[in-house]
Amino acid sequence: MMTRRRRSKHSGRMGRNQQPSRALVCTNAGIVGMGLMGSSIAACLLAAGRTVAAIEADPANLKKASRQVLSLLEGLRKERLLRADPRKILRRLTVSKDYSALRQSDIVVECVTEDLNVKRDVIRKIEQVVAPHTIIGSNTSAIPPTQLQQGALHPERILGTHWAEPAHITRFIADVDRSLRNDLGYWITFAGPFRFMDLTGIPAYRAVMRDLLPDLDCSQQVPAMMERLVESGAQGVANAKGFYNYTPAQAKRWEVRFLKFSYDVRALARKYPEDDASFASATLAGVDKQREDRKQP
Ligand SMILES: NC(=O)c1ccc[n+]([C@@H]2O[C@H](COP(=O)([O-])OP(=O)(O)OC[C@H]3O[C@@H](n4cnc5c(N)ncnc54)[C@H](O)[C@@H]3O)[C@@H](O)[C@H]2O)c1
Repeated sequence: MMTRRRRSKHSGRMGRNQQPSRALVCTNAGIVGMGLMGSSIAACLLAAGRTVAAIEADPANLKKASRQVLSLLEGLRKERLLRADPRKILRRLTVSKDYSALRQSDIVVECVTEDLNVKRDVIRKIEQVVAPHTIIGSNTSAIPPTQLQQGALHPERILGTHWAEPAHITRFIADVDRSLRNDLGYWITFAGPFRFMDLTGIPAYRAVMRDLLPDLDCSQQVPAMMERLVESGAQGVANAKGFYNYTPAQAKRWEVRFLKFSYDVRALARKYPEDDASFASATLAGVDKQREDRKQP
């Protein structure tokens, strides 16, 4: 991530309109909102060696955030995706409600509720404490970054940085084919769209529908079933109330199974890398041979 602005050793000779070079450095990351996504993004960044300052407004979530991140790191360790001791890694995480903890951040990712006003307010608070060059990423699912930038002190550094849950396991890369393989292709054999909404939190999807349907759908309205569900308090497996019926034990099992499946499908996908040239050429050679065989009398 391009964050810290550094003068090159030739900076003394730079022309008036030349920009100093920017180094790709991100040592300190900040996260605002330690719910489902904030926790798994924190686990991902910690596992990648970063220091993470996290902000959470809800006292109950604040209390359990570190424990949640620790359990995600322990999962990574168990799956041999992490060598270091999760408890040692956790020392690089601080969680508080005080935004000044973000002061040193090279990048801050906001992961708060999918609501334009809430996000704008959070971005305003972040901007009050971070340096002018700090990148501010929004994990928004559907709010256009241009709307998040309105009224900001430095709108040009506010970007959409959408992660996929579970962020510490899911692999992301740079092109469309890979992102579809690693996102949709990752979970679609485990859960259809309704189960997936149960697993990843129903209210966020209503908010997404409200934002996107006016542009994507002729009816421009959130489906009545979705409105009814969210109004009834359904959050999915998080509170054992969703498109499907769950007992608390069943809901917990779905959560565990989703994580287990994510590890399994990750291992499976790694057996079939996209850039395996030897596999591709062996297949092509096989096709050529078949063609040749067919030509033989
Ligand atoms: N759940 C998913 O699979 C998923 C995937 C990609 C993107 N997203 C997006 O990520 C964001 C968060 O989603 P989530 O599922 O983690 O939601 P969540 O409800 O689990 O977490 C949101 C957290 O933000 C906290 N929060 C709210 N207002 C705050 C404030 N002003 N300051 C600090 N903390 C605050 C809440 O207390 C909560 O802990 C949303 O924008 C959502 O659309 C979600």
